[in-house]
Amino acid sequence: MRKTYVIGNWKMNGSLAANKALLAGLKAGVPAAKANVAIAVCPPFVYLPSVVDAVSGSPIGVGSQDVSEYDKGAYTGEVPVAMLKEVGVTYAVIGHSERRSLFGETDEWVAKKTVAALAGGLVPVVCIGELEAEREGGLTEKVLATQLDAVLAAIPNPVPGSIVVAYEPVWAIGTGKTATPEMAQETHAFIRNYLKKGGEAFAQDTAILYGGSVKASNAAGLFAMPDIDGGLVGGASLIVEEFVGIYNAAADQFGKR
Ligand code: 13P
Repeated sequence: MRKTYVIGNWKMNGSLAANKALLAGLKAGVPAAKANVAIAVCPPFVYLPSVVDAVSGSPIGVGSQDVSEYDKGAYTGEVPVAMLKEVGVTYAVIGHSERRSLFGETDEWVAKKTVAALAGGLVPVVCIGELEAEREGGLTEKVLATQLDAVLAAIPNPVPGSIVVAYEPVWAIGTGKTATPEMAQETHAFIRNYLKKGGEAFAQDTAILYGGSVKASNAAGLFAMPDIDGGLVGGASLIVEEFVGIYNAAADQFGKR
């Protein structure tokens, strides 16, 4: 059975004091992993070592919000896989729509970062998603196919379960507009079918997370869908009750699978 995940993307938020309070709350709220749902937080790079320390002995894992495609050398500002591994990071969010739209990341770049993460032993959480105008123009599947093609072309024989895909419709990110569970399911089913390009087992074993205004109040409905395997959570991952509520909804729903 494929794995399920609840991953918090803190984006450019936090402080030493705020992180301490948030993590203490999460550790109290999630004392043990439930129903095989993995939980992780992705703080800004500078906080990664202290967050790894703070969550040690708890079920909470740690991810970065980006990773370099390069190993080492003259790449000012970049952070490679090996350094992330060295400080205890497990996951790397790659190709978030904010990186694509604000920092010019291309599909090819996302693919190279995914290859680097896999080669170095980080679990890539590859983000894909369409803009509002693209959905309205009937282009959703075309956009997602293009984004997935770049990654699939770069990993010719993907190991089932080795990557996580996060579907984040850009119009639902930070807007409070969530895709309905049915709308999200339809798109997740398309993505799963498309992943068959990497083999049937790869498609079946890839966790496809939904992201975009996931909250404790809408999580159960989303996670009840057969092709939604968890959430990549922004704003609500900064609030203890919300993130714990989302985790509990995941454990309830995925425990029924
Ligand atoms: P929100 O949950 O704040 O909409 O953000 C979603 C997201 O971008 C997670 O990566």
